[in-house]
Amino acid sequence: MKVAFVASEGVPFSKTGGLADVVGALPKALAALGHEVEVILPRYRVTPQGASMPHAKSLTLPLGSGYKFAAVQSAGRTHQVQTYLIDCPELFDRDGLYQYRGEDYPDNAHRFAAFSMAALEFLKHSPNPPDIIHCHDWQTALVPVYLRNLYRGDSYFTQTSIMFTLHNLGYQGLFLPHLLPQISLHAGLFTVDALEYYGMVNLLKGGIIFSDFITTVSRKYAEEIQTPEFGYGLEGVLYARADHLQGILNGVDYEEWNPATDRHLAANYTPADLAGKVACKRDLLEKMGARSPVLTRPVIGIVSRFASQKGFDLIGAIAEQLAGLDLYIVALGTGEPAHEELFRTMAAKYPDKFLVRIAYDNALAHQIEAGSDMFLMPSKYEPCGLNQIYSLKYGAVPIVRATGGLDDTIEPFDGQSGTGFKFHDYSPQALLTSIQSALEAFQSPEAWRHLMQNGMKKDYSWASSARAYSQIYEAMQKDKA
Ligand code: ADP
Ligand code: GLC
Repeated sequence: MKVAFVASEGVPFSKTGGLADVVGALPKALAALGHEVEVILPRYRVTPQGASMPHAKSLTLPLGSGYKFAAVQSAGRTHQVQTYLIDCPELFDRDGLYQYRGEDYPDNAHRFAAFSMAALEFLKHSPNPPDIIHCHDWQTALVPVYLRNLYRGDSYFTQTSIMFTLHNLGYQGLFLPHLLPQISLHAGLFTVDALEYYGMVNLLKGGIIFSDFITTVSRKYAEEIQTPEFGYGLEGVLYARADHLQGILNGVDYEEWNPATDRHLAANYTPADLAGKVACKRDLLEKMGARSPVLTRPVIGIVSRFASQKGFDLIGAIAEQLAGLDLYIVALGTGEPAHEELFRTMAAKYPDKFLVRIAYDNALAHQIEAGSDMFLMPSKYEPCGLNQIYSLKYGAVPIVRATGGLDDTIEPFDGQSGTGFKFHDYSPQALLTSIQSALEAFQSPEAWRHLMQNGMKKDYSWASSARAYSQIYEAMQKDKA
């Protein structure tokens, strides 16, 4: 089948979080199953120039009362996947992907409307229409909205089905109603069965309503989002589409995330030979500025967007108690100022315990996975979470809250089987108790090695998830026939 991925970020071209990892890896796994896959991304300032494509030098995008113009570049073909970049410097040649200094760009709706329309217009340049367009999150939710409304009369797309993957219900793309004419949508779409949501335009809602099938990134999250606690007001819409909604767990690209081959590490290691992990721990502690590193002390790693989704208020509530324990906290992240401040303050107050880097740094993210004994993810909600799955492979034992993909991927350690530590209540005490259980287990080197190896031997490669997506693609095409 011909499958076109349309997404707002993808490794190695652009990344703010796990969406980019998925968009970098799932297409490869689908191509390995025999699908013809192409990926369409915006070209941001961080994205290297592609090769210009003479037949797609100037797409005309009628948006509101004016036109926007975009060129398409080829970013080449790797692992049988062709990537295209939509180049519109006025909209995408900026410092951030979605934000500048923590504030969303005020024209985000217009930026991603132009991108979504450009993707559709570009697809029409091919002699064969795609069988499937696979979109992701609110930034590309306008693809299904446009296709089933503006492009309804376009015979080119009559055989095309739309898959929409929800990576995070916490970001919906909410805008004022006067947006609609500016992005060429009819005011008639401002109803409760379409884009209207408590007086606002909700793009994610449009994606859910106008796509043929919806997936999200773990089985548990697929259930959670149909409840008020996790649905962020869209639980009813999702519940109404439950027969076209499925949770498929993300996989890991083990070409990128494998301690046996990782190029970012001071030493490589495997479950059978863990010597390299000690070298990684020493390297990490030195790199993070630990004065006379104590290698027998457990390191708890954190690599995260600093967003409230990730449970930083719980960490804040027990930070003083953590500082009193025999451990290192090594944290890497950027995001909401209050969470950055928490880590800065703790690092200044307890420089021997809290080793902090407020930054986005891919190599350091790998080094933290390798150099940590434990990895902390006390998320309030977590659609899938990739870091805990990377942690399993790197022998950094996950301590997680039992929500979404964290619950689906981590099994509590009972002394013999299991891969990590899991708590249920979203409370500081529950988190602290879980950390204390991990610290206690760490005192028995035999049992701890067993626990690490349990996790390192798990296989979360993409193949089985790609097969699950492929089956849905086929079912959607059957429905069309
Ligand atoms: P989310 O998508 O919600 O941010 P995931 O766990 O799915 O959470 O994915 C996060 C991805 O982003 C991982 O690949 C992680 O290593 C990476 N990441 C997050 N913050 C940083 C950072 N400050 N520096 C480098 N990589 C980061
Ligand atoms: C989102 C979620 C995260 C998930 C990622 C990739 O950003 O917060 O849990 O792993 O998307 O699907």
